[in-house]
Amino acid sequence: MKKWCIGLVGCGSIAGAHYIPEINSFPNAKVIALCDIIPHRAKIWSERFGISESYEDIDGMLSKSNFDILVNTASIQSHFKIDLKALKAGKHLYSQKPFATTVKEATILIEEAKRRNLKMSISPIHILRPEIKEAKRLIENNIIGKIAFVKCSSSHGGPEYFQYRDVDPSWFYEPGAGPMFDLGVHGLTQVTGLLGPVKSVQALSGISEKIRTTRSGVFDGKKIVPKVDDLTLVMLDFGNATFGFVDCSYCVKASNKGSDLEIFGSGGTLVIREDVNNRLQLYLDNFETNVRGWMSPIVQWPEFKQSYGVKDLIEAIEQNREPLLSAKHARHVIEIMNKCYVAVKEKRSIKIETIF
Ligand SMILES: NC(=O)c1ccc[n+]([C@@H]2O[C@H](COP(=O)([O-])OP(=O)(O)OC[C@H]3O[C@@H](n4cnc5c(N)ncnc54)[C@H](O)[C@@H]3O)[C@@H](O)[C@H]2O)c1
Repeated sequence: MKKWCIGLVGCGSIAGAHYIPEINSFPNAKVIALCDIIPHRAKIWSERFGISESYEDIDGMLSKSNFDILVNTASIQSHFKIDLKALKAGKHLYSQKPFATTVKEATILIEEAKRRNLKMSISPIHILRPEIKEAKRLIENNIIGKIAFVKCSSSHGGPEYFQYRDVDPSWFYEPGAGPMFDLGVHGLTQVTGLLGPVKSVQALSGISEKIRTTRSGVFDGKKIVPKVDDLTLVMLDFGNATFGFVDCSYCVKASNKGSDLEIFGSGGTLVIREDVNNRLQLYLDNFETNVRGWMSPIVQWPEFKQSYGVKDLIEAIEQNREPLLSAKHARHVIEIMNKCYVAVKEKRSIKIETIF
C-alpha cells in the first residue's frame, strides 16, 4: 500500500485539533512536513507531533520537501496564493475553505489543476457527512415532495468569543475573512449541496458589534475593531418557487432552537442537527393514509472525521476520479458570497452565473 506524504501549511487550531493527528492515523498517509509563517511555530509543532520537517515559508517547503499532497489550513486570506503555488509545484491539493476569495481566482486554480492533471478537494466537508448524504437521498427520492424552502444557520458568537486560541483571532475580522467567508460558506455549501445551484441572491448586511473583546486563550482581553460585516442575512432563489435563507454571522452567542438545517417540502420536513445522537429527523405527511408524524430514519451512522476530505482526495487520486468535495461547487459558493455584498450595495436581487 502506498503511503501518501502530506505537507501541511497553517499550524493553527484546526490543524492541531484535527488534521495532523487524524491524517497520521490513516493507514495510507502521513504528515511529513509542516509550515507556518509565525517563526518557530512549525518547528515546535514538528516536535509535538513527531514530524521531521518544518518550514517558515511555503516556497521553502515546496522547493525542499518531497510530499504528494498539500493540506492548506492557513488563514483564509492566504489560501489562494498558497494553493496556486502548490499546484504549480505539481502537488495535489486539499484546501480549507474558501480556497479563493473571488470567482476569478477560483477559476485560475481549477484550470491550473486541470492543466497539470492534479486533483483538488475543497473544504467544507458537509457533502461527505453521513446525515447530509442521507438527507440528499431522501430529497432526490421525493420523500418530502416538492421543496418549498430551506433554512440554515451558519453563525456563532465569533472566534474570539468561545474558542480557546493560541493564535491572534484578529484576522477573522480583516477583509477577505469575516463570518461570510468563515461560516456562511458552511451553510451555503450545505443548502446548495442538497438543492443544487442557486439562480439569484438577495441580502442584508452590516457591522452589528463595533468592538470585539477576546474572551479566552493567549490573546484574552485583546480588543478587535471589525473591518468587515459581522452579520449577513442571505436569501437564495433556486428557481421554481424554491427558496433558501442562511444567516452568516458572529452574532449568535447562543441558540436553543435545536437544529442547524431545516428543509420544508410539500410532503414533510427534514431536520439536520450537529448532535451526534440525533443527526436527522424526518416528518412525513402521507395524504392517502392520513398518517403524519416525526420519525428518525434507521441508519447506522458511520464514523466521520474532519479530515475525511483528505481521505476522499487520496481515494480520488488512486481511482483517478474527481474528489467529492468539488472545486466547481466551492466556486459557486464563492460567487454567492461575493454577490451578497453586491446585492446589499445595489439593494436588489443579483443573478448567479456559475453552476456545478
Ligand atoms: N478552527 C476551526 O474550528 C475551523 C473549523 C473549520 C475550518 N476552519 C478553517 O481552517 C483555516 C484555519 O483556521 P484556524 O481556526 O485553524 O486558524 P488559526 O488562526 O488558528 O491558524 C491559522 C494558521 O495559519 C498560519 N498562516 C497564516 N498565513 C500563513 C501563510 N501565508 N503561510 C503559512 N502559514 C500561515 C497562521 O500563522 C496560523 O498559525 C481557516 O480557513 C478556517 O476558516 C477552522
